[in-house]
Amino acid sequence: MSLSFLAAGAEGGAVNPWVALAYLIAGVFFILALRGLSSPATSRAGNRNGMIGMGIAVITTLVTHDIANIVEIAIAIFLGGIIGVTVARRIAMTAMPELVAAFHSLVGLAAVLVAAAAFLNPDAFGLLDASGNITAVSRVEMTLGAAIGAITFSGSVIAFAKLSGRMSGSPIMLPGRHVINLGTLLAIIVGTALYAMAPDAGAGEGWLFWAIVAAAFIIGFLLIIPIGGADMPVVVSMLNSYSGWAAAAMGFTLGNTAMIITGALVGSSGAILSYIMCRAMNRSFISVIAGGFGADSGGASGGEAGEQRPYKQGSAADAAFMLEQAEKVIIIPGYGMAVAQAQHALREMADLLEEKGVEVKYAIHPVAGRMPGHMNVLLAEASVEYDKVFELEDINSEFAQADVAFIIGANDVVNPAAKTDKSSPIYGMPVFDVDKAKQVFFIKRSMGGVGYAGVDNDVFYMDQTMMLLSDAKKMVEEIVKSLD
Ligand code: TAP
Repeated sequence: MSLSFLAAGAEGGAVNPWVALAYLIAGVFFILALRGLSSPATSRAGNRNGMIGMGIAVITTLVTHDIANIVEIAIAIFLGGIIGVTVARRIAMTAMPELVAAFHSLVGLAAVLVAAAAFLNPDAFGLLDASGNITAVSRVEMTLGAAIGAITFSGSVIAFAKLSGRMSGSPIMLPGRHVINLGTLLAIIVGTALYAMAPDAGAGEGWLFWAIVAAAFIIGFLLIIPIGGADMPVVVSMLNSYSGWAAAAMGFTLGNTAMIITGALVGSSGAILSYIMCRAMNRSFISVIAGGFGADSGGASGGEAGEQRPYKQGSAADAAFMLEQAEKVIIIPGYGMAVAQAQHALREMADLLEEKGVEVKYAIHPVAGRMPGHMNVLLAEASVEYDKVFELEDINSEFAQADVAFIIGANDVVNPAAKTDKSSPIYGMPVFDVDKAKQVFFIKRSMGGVGYAGVDNDVFYMDQTMMLLSDAKKMVEEIVKSLD
């Protein structure tokens, strides 16, 4: 099929209605993708819609523009595709957050590079006015796109380094950081306004553009280094949002509707996700945007872990015996289940219990694991039915009727210190009321190991708690054997 109708009108700046229509269709696919991704049941269809939308947008862009060297572009797409597929296949689920942070940094860098290309060759981008100067509107779009891109880049690099353990997850506090951050942000805004009004956007006042980009790179670092420990998930989704806004700003510079739509969708959905996660962790949204929130909470370092207190330890056979007697079991999976890859064994255990007439439900905390939806993805991979999986607010009241709260690799999300201990780094985060269940089984490898926030957990020492100290997969497999 010839796509030449898309190219018609590309020259001379006229808007080709077919191009507008193609981008609109791509935009509709992106919206359907987001809709699909809102539930594990429809997420595959959501992903497919996203890929179709992006395919339409890329093909439309390629055939609409007067492309100098299609071979170079094809090679770049091919190499990028190979890298993407290889990384996606190889990456462990537990390393997903740092991969996402790394990819965001690339989106940010791409926005900076596009803005730099537009600055260096404004004629090719159609940004010049009659007097041969870059138009004021284009200067603002370009500068904002580059600045947001630079913040996204440097912020994401720090988030990647912290999440992957390449640098300490503890907050790094600079004295007077709020004044420095606010001052730098103000300088970027004032610099952008001055640049927009400057008599010569190129050789004359062009240095302002580079100064703003440099300040933005620095503020990206400064905003993320004071954030530590348990607050990182919000940072990752916030950076996701920033990367979207950077792309949208560059869409204006390039006059590309698809980029504006996609960037705005990524920007707003990332912001909504950040807001939801802030609510889940009881953090203030504004303080996240400002950076440095949660810094005083001690991050991954604090806590009284390792304190010697009496606890009860049981075996797989003990657990199996009591599970069989139960009427209702609520399973709370956490990061340790992901590390152990215990989801399939867990599903097998739940199936056996259901065959024996036990009601089994799964309780998922919004920040369980290391990325949004982490537990949902793992349970879906093990074909756990979606109607057995419940969010915190929907199931928390049911612990009072549960015979067993079965905690597998979760820790912070069941820690009552979040409700009672104002000095705890997780204070204020809603947690599961597992203490209300008649019995609590707690799978983890050792009493010494702590959760992400690095604090001890009173649940270990409750009268009704039985510690099952082992790798999660091994323990559940042994329970399954005992149930058989
Ligand atoms: P965590 O509090 O991190 O606790 C994980 C538990 O799993 C620990 O008790 C650990 O103890 C145990 N564990 C680790 N490997 C195991 C294995 N192979 N077998 C059995 N147990 C194992 O997990 P959580 O309750 O899911 O909480 C999530 C935390 O991560 C929150 O603080 C959250 O803020 C933070 N976080 C979340 C995200 C997102 S978006 N979900 C992203 C980054 C950070 P042992 O070492 O003793 O085994």
